[in-house]
Amino acid sequence: TKYFALIPAAGTGSRMGNELPKQYLSLAHKPMIYHAIHTLCQSQWISRVFIVLAPGDTEWAQYDWSEFSDKLMVLYCGGVTRAESVRNGLAVGQEKAVINENDWVLIHDAARPCLTTVQLEKLMNELMNDKVGGLLAIPVADTLKRGDIHNRIGSTESRENLWQAQTPQMFRYHLLIDALNNATTVNITDDASAVERLGFHPKLILSDVCNLKVTYPQDFALAELILQERKI
Ligand code: CTP
Ligand code: MG
Repeated sequence: TKYFALIPAAGTGSRMGNELPKQYLSLAHKPMIYHAIHTLCQSQWISRVFIVLAPGDTEWAQYDWSEFSDKLMVLYCGGVTRAESVRNGLAVGQEKAVINENDWVLIHDAARPCLTTVQLEKLMNELMNDKVGGLLAIPVADTLKRGDIHNRIGSTESRENLWQAQTPQMFRYHLLIDALNNATTVNITDDASAVERLGFHPKLILSDVCNLKVTYPQDFALAELILQERKI
């Protein structure tokens, strides 16, 4: 069984509010996407890392990626949604590399630059004998309120058994392809929810808050602090 990674990086970063898509913003002296690539390429288990870019991307080629040339494969096949980008990437990737039905694919957002090798290896170790797969996630820590249209609290919700999904999300290749082909018409924001729609129950693997997703400028500042602190 082989392991492949795929990084969807075809988004525009609209909530970040920058003209340059966030995956290319300079974070700890590198374009943000560099950090995810570095961590995934470092793993001995992962044989290829596919990068899914927007068809019109002109930014990627501005940088030197040769240090990763033994594993990286760049695909200009991004779609309108993240799910579409992943689905296109898996389809085009299969034309370029031999992927077997039961091989693992790890989908990881370019917007999660703080993933550590320890978290990545934990995910792979805990799922290697699994039939379905799973994802990194953290239990919800805050008290949850359901608000009404006037921002008045309607109720306090139990946080028991509630988790926040992160990436990487790791699935058998055939299962993820089927799930994404089946789910294209609905709004899904991660790979696990597509798999769930087929009736499977992906496993939650305990991660931590440092593997944050950079969505808003404040997240970007936090990611910068986390990465800088690790370098000291
Ligand atoms: N992504 C993608 N193709 C899309 C949309 C998103 O490959 N059509 C990627 C993003 O580049 C990112 C990951 O999916 O690495 C997570 O998406 P998100 O954080 O929402 O990034 P954006 O969609 O770029 O940001 P926004 O939603 O604020 O516009
Ligand atoms: Mg988005």
